[in-house]
Amino acid sequence: MKDKPQIDDKLIAAANELTKCFVLSDDKLRQLMEKLEQEFQLGLCNEESATLKMLITYVRHLPNGKERGQYLALDLGGTNFRVILINLNIANAPMVSQKFVIPDELMAVDGERLFDFIADCIIEFTNNHKLETIRIALGFTFSFPCVQYGLCQSKLVRWTKGFNCSGVVGKDVVKLLKNSLKKKTQFNNAFVDIVALINDTTGTLMSCAHKNPNCNIGLIVGTGTNACYIEQLDRIDKWPSNYSDPKTVVINTEWGAFGDNGVVDKLGVMTKWDKLVDADTVNPGRQLYEKMVSGMYLGELVRRLLITLCEQKLLFNGQTPENLLKKGSFPTKSVSKIDSDSESNKFQATRRLFDRDFTKTYTETDLRIIHMANNRVSKRAADLVAVGCSTLIEHMANQSNTIAYDGSVIKLHPHFHQWVSDGICKLIDKKKRFEMMLSEDGSGRGAAIVAAVSYREKRPRIIIRDRKVYEIGTYIH
Ligand code: BGC
Repeated sequence: MKDKPQIDDKLIAAANELTKCFVLSDDKLRQLMEKLEQEFQLGLCNEESATLKMLITYVRHLPNGKERGQYLALDLGGTNFRVILINLNIANAPMVSQKFVIPDELMAVDGERLFDFIADCIIEFTNNHKLETIRIALGFTFSFPCVQYGLCQSKLVRWTKGFNCSGVVGKDVVKLLKNSLKKKTQFNNAFVDIVALINDTTGTLMSCAHKNPNCNIGLIVGTGTNACYIEQLDRIDKWPSNYSDPKTVVINTEWGAFGDNGVVDKLGVMTKWDKLVDADTVNPGRQLYEKMVSGMYLGELVRRLLITLCEQKLLFNGQTPENLLKKGSFPTKSVSKIDSDSESNKFQATRRLFDRDFTKTYTETDLRIIHMANNRVSKRAADLVAVGCSTLIEHMANQSNTIAYDGSVIKLHPHFHQWVSDGICKLIDKKKRFEMMLSEDGSGRGAAIVAAVSYREKRPRIIIRDRKVYEIGTYIH
């Protein structure tokens, strides 16, 4: 029989003490729910003064599954930009899409250059797919907070997720895109109708609602985090219009900003590592809940925590591996890898990861401490997402709820989805029910569906060009 590994219980106890601030009691989770509900209410009254904007999306009609036609969708919200062609005429027809990597420098340049780049990508795609002569409606998933004045008029409230392009905040994003498209001469001939601008949460909700009408929440836990839900018009103080049917609208909560007014910190939930991570972003003091939860930040949180453990001589005998000192050296996919390990598999993935990226000199105790620290950060993130979803479920009158979800963290992390689900079970009224439904590419399909639903209402049946009459969706030769 092999010897049992030597474990230093004192070190483990000290590391436990240092990291236990990441463990949130049920009581704390409930206090967070109460605060979040108050913030929801404030946002529903007036978004100017509220921290959570509770943005009206103007998406009111859910899909009925009968949406037809061919649509373009754009998806901008992280490091990639995609152009997608979707054919809703054929059930489960494969989508044709092209991914374009947004160069780092474009994330913080003059906004016009970013939109010129997007326009170039659209042109490349439509040329590649011989779409230059088709009239086609386009839905744009733009996953940043936008105040909307209609389905396709908006104003960017602020950039998030590392973007910081000048000249876009406060501007109409659709107009900026149209201007860039106009500048490109080849495109003058193409009939691209930008008919909807949506958030990725809305896209996620819509793509699932297309199959399951019970869906009432759209959730993203990816590079950023956010949720939307279906609200009754008479509960929205700031609703600017009449109460026509359907008496509901999708509200984009922009819950990533929860805590930006200090309420989360006041509850003692933010740790010193959260503050360190926040201080080293392009938007310090903003999106504080998002920075405790989402993929852009989880790896950084763990990295900073491991550095402190080294500094306090609780890890690697006090020797901080050089690479660990580099920002970005510990991406969130490493958090997932470590969480897929356990004592029973002898922390194999963690060993491989540390061998490759940081150091080959570690003890069994080090492995346990790394595992504990990593797990505390990711489990807290899932608990916080459960707080958000539970608050929404409690906020709505529905007894039965379906959460459409998407995003790299909730999809790829080995336990995140289960932890969120367990957390919600614990936090909501026992009479309420919920299920979670994975969205298949909500950002792409959802935008196409919203475009289709809006076209269902008001699409022009024909267009006249060069004195000829064309039906929508037909090719113009
Ligand atoms: C944005 C949201 C978006 C979320 C998920 C956040 O940073 O503010 O609009 O839905 O990321 O992509």
